[in-house]
Amino acid sequence: MNKRVRSALVSVTAAALMAGVAQAAGKLEIFSWWSGIEAPALDALVKLYQATYPGVNVDNATVTGGAGTNAKAILKTRMLNGDAPDSFQAHAGQELTGTWVVSNRMEDLSSLYKSEGWNTKFPKAVIDLLSHKGGIYSVPVDVHRSNVMWYVPATLKKYGVTAPTSWGEMLKACTVLKAKGMVAPLAMGENWTQQMVWESVAVGILGPKGWNDLWAGKLKFTDPSVVDTFNVYGKLLDCANRNANDLNWQQASIRLLTGEAAFNIMGDWAAGYLTTIKNLKPGVGFAWSASPSTSGTFIMLADSFGLPKGAKDRAEAINWLKVLGSKEGQDVFNPLKGSIAARTDSDLGRYGAYSQSAARDWKSKVIVGSMVHGAAANEAFTSGFSTVMETFGLNHDSTMAAQATQALAVQSKIGQ
Ligand code: GAL
Repeated sequence: MNKRVRSALVSVTAAALMAGVAQAAGKLEIFSWWSGIEAPALDALVKLYQATYPGVNVDNATVTGGAGTNAKAILKTRMLNGDAPDSFQAHAGQELTGTWVVSNRMEDLSSLYKSEGWNTKFPKAVIDLLSHKGGIYSVPVDVHRSNVMWYVPATLKKYGVTAPTSWGEMLKACTVLKAKGMVAPLAMGENWTQQMVWESVAVGILGPKGWNDLWAGKLKFTDPSVVDTFNVYGKLLDCANRNANDLNWQQASIRLLTGEAAFNIMGDWAAGYLTTIKNLKPGVGFAWSASPSTSGTFIMLADSFGLPKGAKDRAEAINWLKVLGSKEGQDVFNPLKGSIAARTDSDLGRYGAYSQSAARDWKSKVIVGSMVHGAAANEAFTSGFSTVMETFGLNHDSTMAAQATQALAVQSKIGQ
């Protein structure tokens, strides 16, 4: 072999090693609800996986429907039929541990955490959410914030209002906007997004301690303070579009862009949508603040992927987890998604203005878990709560909603 060819080969091999490229074959099915306009961040991660493990045929199986409303039902059927995907999306917290870990369906990933050095790369609080009886059961790919209020500065300017910092101010702004001809100032979407508005209202009224007490079973849902959360939420419904149940979360966001609405309470995947899909400049085309009355709190949720027992392509799935838990994986995914990396060593220079502000808040605010997105409550409660919201939307009866929620909490063993 001549010297030039040999040194070229050496440098190609070195480059391949540095890029972590391993020759691989086989297939991998990953299962999530990141389809359509929610797909770009996941696509980027899959691309990184394919560059790192060329030759693996990736089936990026997605089921449409925000917050996994449809995907979770299909996943359940598949898991019960012994047809587990190789790796699937599940929220850190009760959604993962209370459903899949307690039923002994997931592999313990503690040794992977050790070999990848992840125990010191992810915050302890996040690892705790993925842990059960000493095992760690999934790998977090992001941290999202649930309590964010979005708006378009030009719309507020046009109507002469400012972003409300408390729910009282929000209701006042609503009256002003309506008087000036805006029919439905608060953009609202389908049931799970309505639950998110209630979640922000509840954290605002009860404070982080009261919120945590609810899930620890120390504060009853029939307590007058919790009844009040439904009163305020009911007033907000009067400020929202009547066709909320017919709109998905993106359609609700669009009401801000058309100028039909002034405010939208939504998790920060909205930042991903507004920047990655709508190409809007943060702070100009859209702006944000914490949901009213919650500026000291960060309601968190984290998407994670685990390894179900009996995965058909176990080795490929483990490599997938390695990619999504890596610094590069997180920094490829999160800037497009609107979230921040779950890892503590991400390169914030690669992120937009919204995520940079979220990263600051993640460090400085009081962190609590989202009920709607599986961190604070189990799935039995969360899915039952959608019925409470549906009934409340029809009768606006706060006392009845509080009683129904308390009954649901008992049934779903909240705090036990
Ligand atoms: C959440 C999920 C986010 C985003 C959102 C809307 O449950 O954690 O990543 O996908 O649903 O679909």
